[in-house]
Amino acid sequence: RLDSPLSGRTVLVTAGGTREAIDPVRFLGNRSSGKMGHAIAAEAAALGAKVVLVTTSTLPVPPGVEAVPVESAMDMHEAVMARADVADVIVKAAAVADFRPAARAEQKIKKADGTPTIELVPNPDILAELGAREDLRAVLVGFAAETTDVETHGRDKLRRKGADLIVINDVSQADAGFAVDTNRAVILGADGMRRDVALTSKRELASILLGEAAARLPG
Ligand code: PMT
Repeated sequence: RLDSPLSGRTVLVTAGGTREAIDPVRFLGNRSSGKMGHAIAAEAAALGAKVVLVTTSTLPVPPGVEAVPVESAMDMHEAVMARADVADVIVKAAAVADFRPAARAEQKIKKADGTPTIELVPNPDILAELGAREDLRAVLVGFAAETTDVETHGRDKLRRKGADLIVINDVSQADAGFAVDTNRAVILGADGMRRDVALTSKRELASILLGEAAARLPG
């Protein structure tokens, strides 16, 4: 692990689906469990990196990893931006809600008050904001969860969000993507690299991905 290229480097990982509060008891969410992000954090720590895991998940925090628990996209945005400058690698495995309710009702919304209309406003795009920063020194890795034309949409996201690498998973398949222990993916690099990863554990995909990220570290 001392000869690992990630030894002594700082790796910032995000994991899980964000929860966007509607009222004190309800939220808008998605199917991300945090398994992929927690597997990346575990693997990076095993490779000797200093790992910060910004997570919405209640899964166990892997040994040697510093966890920053968050709930909403706004919380995650703040936690990531505060730590981005010290990171050598940033991996955005979290499923961040694109929209949040414009207002959080202070009291539980009552059925007797009729069918509510929930107005939504856009959340910041954390990955795109990092990708647009000229001064960011970290190797930036995004994920793309797609159900149709997965590679075309993934390639487009890589370019639009300014990432160095993107991991495209086809979440329409039962043994890949959300909440399972396995995944299959295509990893694309802004440098033209393309790598197919056949069905494997999330931990093994994490290992392959971190290898690609480490190979792109300056110096
Ligand atoms: O958590 P698991 O159950 O293990 O499932 C893993 C996973 C399927 C959630 C994961 O592998 C995955 O694909 N994560 C990204 C899901 C997603 O939100 O994809 P997206 O296409 O909406 O977003 C693309 C990228 O932009 C992601 O890196 C995302 O973190 C980032 N993003 C998106 C929106 C936003 N407002 N801010 C962001 O940073």
